[in-house]
Amino acid sequence: MRKNIVAGNWKMNCTLPEGKKLASEVIHMVEDEVNNDAEVILIPPFIHLTGIQSLIGSSERIFLGAQNCHQSKSGAYTGEVSAAMLVSCGATYVILGHSERREYFGETDELLSEKVAFTLENNLKPIFCCGERLEVREAGDHEKFVGSQVEKALFGLSEENIKNVVIAYEPVWAIGTGKTASAEQAQEMHAFIRKQIADKYSQAVADGISILYGGSVKPDNAKEIFSQPDVDGGLIGGASLKSRDFTNIVKAFD
Ligand code: G3P
Repeated sequence: MRKNIVAGNWKMNCTLPEGKKLASEVIHMVEDEVNNDAEVILIPPFIHLTGIQSLIGSSERIFLGAQNCHQSKSGAYTGEVSAAMLVSCGATYVILGHSERREYFGETDELLSEKVAFTLENNLKPIFCCGERLEVREAGDHEKFVGSQVEKALFGLSEENIKNVVIAYEPVWAIGTGKTASAEQAQEMHAFIRKQIADKYSQAVADGISILYGGSVKPDNAKEIFSQPDVDGGLIGGASLKSRDFTNIVKAFD
C-alpha cells in the first residue's frame, strides 16, 4: 500500500553504544515532534537489530529494516544472514540492490530478482534500489538503464507480490556527494518508474507502490523533493546518522 516513508540507511556505521544512542534520540524525537503519518524505518547494521527493535517496541509508525539478506533459507554461507533471522530480530523491511552492494559485492539484476522473490516469500518487504551512474545520465540513457533494473529484478513478481515492494530511486551520482538530484529530475524518474509498473501490471498497482528518492537528501531539500507527485519519501544515508537532521527530514511531510 502506498504511503509516505522516510527510511534511514545507516550503512556501516555505529558501534553498539553509538547505535543505541542514535536510535533512542530518533525514536523520542519522532514520537514527540512529528505531526504527519509518514512511516519511519531505521535500517542499521545487523548488530543493532534486536537492541533497536526493543527500543521501537510497539510503535505504530517506526519500523526496523536490514541492509541486505541472503537468498537462501539457511546453510553453508559464511558471513551471510537469512530472511528468517532478520524476521526473528523484528525486521519488517530489507534493502536490496543498493548501488554499493552492486558495485562492491557484484550483485546483479538476476541475483536481485532471486533475493526480492525470496524475501517476499519470507515475510520481509524489499526496499529495491535502482539508479544510474553519471555517465549514463549524461548520455541520456538513464530511463532505459533504470527501466532495465526494475524489469529484470521485479517483473517476474505476481501482482500480489509486487504490491509489497518499496522502490528507491538512488542516482549513484547523488549518493554521498552532496549533489542532490533536482526535484524535477527525481519526479521525472519516479513518474517513469510508476508508468513502467502501470504498463506491466495496472495503474491501480502502480498507484499503490511507494517510490522513495535517495541521494543527498538533507533537511533543507527534503520538503521540495517530497512534495513531488510521484515521490513518496526518501532513503536517507548520511543525514540518518544525525538524529536532529533525520527527524527534520521526517518533518518535511508536516
Ligand atoms: O541508501 C541511501 C543512501 O545511498 C543515500 O546516501 O548519504 O547521499 O543520503 P546519502
